Amino acid sequence: MGIEVQVEGLTKSFGKQQIWQDVSLTLPAGEVSVMLGPSGTGKTVFLKSLIGLLKPDRGRVLVDGVDMARSPERDIMEARKLFGLMFQDGALFGSMNLFDNIAFPLREHTKKKESEIRRIVMERIDVVGLLGAEGKLPGEISGGMRKRAGLARALVLDPQIILCDEPDSGLDPVRTAFISQLLIDLNTQIDATMLIVTHNLDIAATVPDNMGMLYLHNLVTFGPREVLLTSEEPVVRQFLTADVVGPIGMSEEKDAVTLAAEASGAGASGSGSAASAPRELVPQLQPSPGLGERAAVARRRERVLRLLPTLPESAQRAIRATHGVSPTVVMPRVGGAG
Ligand SMILES: Nc1ncnc2c1ncn2[C@@H]1O[C@H](COP(=O)(O)OP(=O)(O)O)[C@@H](O)[C@H]1O
Ligand SMILES: [Mg+2]
Repeated sequence: MGIEVQVEGLTKSFGKQQIWQDVSLTLPAGEVSVMLGPSGTGKTVFLKSLIGLLKPDRGRVLVDGVDMARSPERDIMEARKLFGLMFQDGALFGSMNLFDNIAFPLREHTKKKESEIRRIVMERIDVVGLLGAEGKLPGEISGGMRKRAGLARALVLDPQIILCDEPDSGLDPVRTAFISQLLIDLNTQIDATMLIVTHNLDIAATVPDNMGMLYLHNLVTFGPREVLLTSEEPVVRQFLTADVVGPIGMSEEKDAVTLAAEASGAGASGSGSAASAPRELVPQLQPSPGLGERAAVARRRERVLRLLPTLPESAQRAIRATHGVSPTVVMPRVGGAG
């Protein structure tokens, strides 16, 4: 089972540029989480801070007893082996075929024999659906295949925590749906803790157990998917409905004048009313047939039912509906085996 990641009061700036401040959240062990946010809000910086490649100004990132921000570098290096990182662009070596690209971490970080490396690499290639393409160069395959190769490479060292940076960027909706299913299937097969950063609404609505959103240098919220997906907060609504009218502008932060004009109705084109209609909760993606249920589901159910009284009413309703819990029966078992 994956490992929990605990982020406490994380704050990061570059010189005078504040990226985000006081970000606190816990990635529950083995669950899939998504961090949404417009471009430039520091999602990639956040991922790099989790693995200690960037140092926050303040705060902690606790993984298996190690603070990825402040512990001795040797401990951070060791803890980093728990992570698998899928970069935005795949980050493959252009001169190496997919097999060698995916084998690279094994050859670099382990003393495994070539036969063992072959077995592991081919298994991961199979998991991401790239069997037959292992001899190809990155330049010879599609962007979607490159991303899957990057994912396969992130998997060879058996990570317990998987971080994916915009797995959808540059992909069409069909390939994005494919990668969404792949991520859910992967979670089913290895039960790793996963964090996906993206601004893709389809991924946000269908993939994660938990969701948060970075906006205006702050974490808007982080919690069970039902909280954000039923949220009435204008910034969340606008993002989830991809509405052009609202607090988020092309420059990411609209000025007060534009916002006031929109609030008074000028510039609204009818889409505002669609945004305020009650939103139906899209069902979460299920594992492909034959894979069984995700181990995270039972654990999450217990966790979320325990949280229930602390959540907004709309989220409570959505959770009760999806978990088949009647409003009066909210008695989570304590210490049950799940
Ligand atoms: N190493 C760095 N040094 C200085 N500024 C950086 C560095 N990395 C990222 N930034 C800045 O941080 C901001 C957030 O970047 P990023 O995390 O890439 O956003 P996102 O991934 O959400 O699109 C950007 O303004 C970017 O220029
Ligand atoms: Mg980024």
